Amino acid sequence: MAEDSKGVSNLLHENRTFPPPEDFAREAVAGADLYERAQQDRLAFWAEQARELISWERDFEQTLDWSEAPFAKWFVGGTLNVAYNCVDRHVEAGNGERVAIHFEGEPGDTRTLTYAQLKDEVSKAANALASLGVAAGDRVAIYLPMIPEAVISMLACARLGATHSVVFGGFSADALHSRIVDAEAKVVITADGGYRRGKPSALKPAVDAALAKSETTVEKVLVVQRTGQDTEFDESRDLWWHEVVDPASPEHTPQGFDSEHPLFILYTSGTTGKPKGILHTTGGYLTQAAFTHKNVFDLKPEKDVYWCTADIGWITGHSYLTYAPLANGATQVVYEGTPDTPHRGRWWEIVEKYKVTILYTAPTAIRAAMKWGDDIPEKYDLSSLRVLGSVGEPINPEAWMWYRRVIGGDKAPIVDTWWQTETGALMISPLPGVTATKPGSAQRALPGIVVDVVDDAGQPLENNVGGFLVVKEPWPSMLRGIWGDPQRFKDTYWSTFEGMYFAGDGARRDDDGDIWFLGRVDDVMNVSGHRLSTTEIESALVSHPAVAEAAVVGAADETTGQAVVAFVILRSSHAEDEGITEALRQHVGQEIGPIAKPKRVLVVSELPKTRSGKIMRRLLRDVAENREVGDATTLADSSVMDLIQENLKKGS
Ligand code: WT7
Repeated sequence: MAEDSKGVSNLLHENRTFPPPEDFAREAVAGADLYERAQQDRLAFWAEQARELISWERDFEQTLDWSEAPFAKWFVGGTLNVAYNCVDRHVEAGNGERVAIHFEGEPGDTRTLTYAQLKDEVSKAANALASLGVAAGDRVAIYLPMIPEAVISMLACARLGATHSVVFGGFSADALHSRIVDAEAKVVITADGGYRRGKPSALKPAVDAALAKSETTVEKVLVVQRTGQDTEFDESRDLWWHEVVDPASPEHTPQGFDSEHPLFILYTSGTTGKPKGILHTTGGYLTQAAFTHKNVFDLKPEKDVYWCTADIGWITGHSYLTYAPLANGATQVVYEGTPDTPHRGRWWEIVEKYKVTILYTAPTAIRAAMKWGDDIPEKYDLSSLRVLGSVGEPINPEAWMWYRRVIGGDKAPIVDTWWQTETGALMISPLPGVTATKPGSAQRALPGIVVDVVDDAGQPLENNVGGFLVVKEPWPSMLRGIWGDPQRFKDTYWSTFEGMYFAGDGARRDDDGDIWFLGRVDDVMNVSGHRLSTTEIESALVSHPAVAEAAVVGAADETTGQAVVAFVILRSSHAEDEGITEALRQHVGQEIGPIAKPKRVLVVSELPKTRSGKIMRRLLRDVAENREVGDATTLADSSVMDLIQENLKKGS
């Protein structure tokens, strides 16, 4: 294990298991036979799923072409239109009146969109984008709050074969700029603002600032009016959504695109400063997203009300808010705001109001709700809930048990789903009618997915020995590369272990063969289920004139999983600057976005380095987590840690 890795610590050994309730198992969508069928003939299994769950314009000829590994082609020769699969075909099947989206705005405004209405809105948006010159292969940046137009925009791009790049609304102008530049976007879709914690929060100024930073490829900016706040408008470039999309024709004939046509790029943090543009394509992505959504959440589209609390700015919002639920014809809730606005019972109020049956959220939100107290959810009728999902980071057994007891009424199965931006769709998870679940473990690979836990040499590990999680066979929704950087794709994921995909996560298998995740083994942090790169935040810090050097670590945090803690060495000319730590926090917020703001900034005079000059973050993590500092013998100067601790004592 790398010297600088997080230290693969074992979670508590957990022996409790919860078999699926009998009535649940009897009615379940997925049975144990799925594993057997996938085992017998993996490719035939996926081909069958692709044909059953997706409507192809032209059927595919070959299930997998792996001849140019690690660049995969799935469902070769097939053509399809993703938007047709997500809306039109449900209307054609007579389900046009089914609700696709129950939208709940943070201020309490609501909007209901049936599949028939969604089809019209997506068609209008597609016609409008086409009138702005957007065609198949063009890139469109989407920078929107959680409003129906976010989903509509994504589907409108998919309908035209334009590749979208959604940028999280919480990211700064700088982050938006670098993403627009990297993807060479032609159009940006944004809003005047969205509602956040009871107030309108502007978005459009960040787009203006991003586009002012350099000459870009952006020709038009389409602006949704959400809050009605004063918004600067560049008449030659900006257009209001309601003036362009609303009057557009609701007739649009979807064209089929190749199964490997690029559907979207989504940027995610890696171990270097520059975010990676993860590329996903069409047929394989939609197949695995739809398959996992149906089977892991036990989806019965005629009855269920599904709610995924993720933002469309993350992969969960792409796969399990936009594409899979709509491809499966589900009815879902889309909520704009935060869980505690205007009060801490807001989520549970929404569950009660819409009789949500399937809830998909993150451990950080569960832990926050747990901290706020049982009496809050207990005020609401949550009896409609029958499946609970978790994603984003390992869920600790305590939070798992609370989720089950207080939210799930001690009976709803919990599915702890492991996957990544890169994997596109779920990879490891229980099946709710089949698996006896275990608090804290994501358990086993889904049917058709082959994973393992291996040691440094790529040899399989068992019996609770910590190692690395790898994927051993290509899977339909796998990333097809990093936008514009094929070499980085190979280096990052395929060079650590011969012929295997290296996920960057530590894991162990218990005596039953169930997988337990142990956190990242690289310099990637996980804050509230969001991936942040230590290097990216360090670069932001050293770009401030007061900072000479910086080291960032993710320290364990009760609510957010990890919290960003920064150690900085100030330039002597700034050593006495008043309020410098707060200024540095704000600076990071501006450079990357508020989620990246360090929780603590600690000023030190030295940083612990190895003889080769590599910062030993492990030791800094010990300090940040108030632990005794571990083995420091490989430091170039072993007195540094004493010095740092002395510094901090003086400072506090
Ligand atoms: C990383 C991927 C997948 C959508 C959300 C995050 C961690 C994710 C789990 C889980 C343990 C998990 C891993 C992974 N992770 N889900 N159920 N148990 N760890 O997507 O930003 O691409 O981050 O999140 O470390 O590598 P992402």
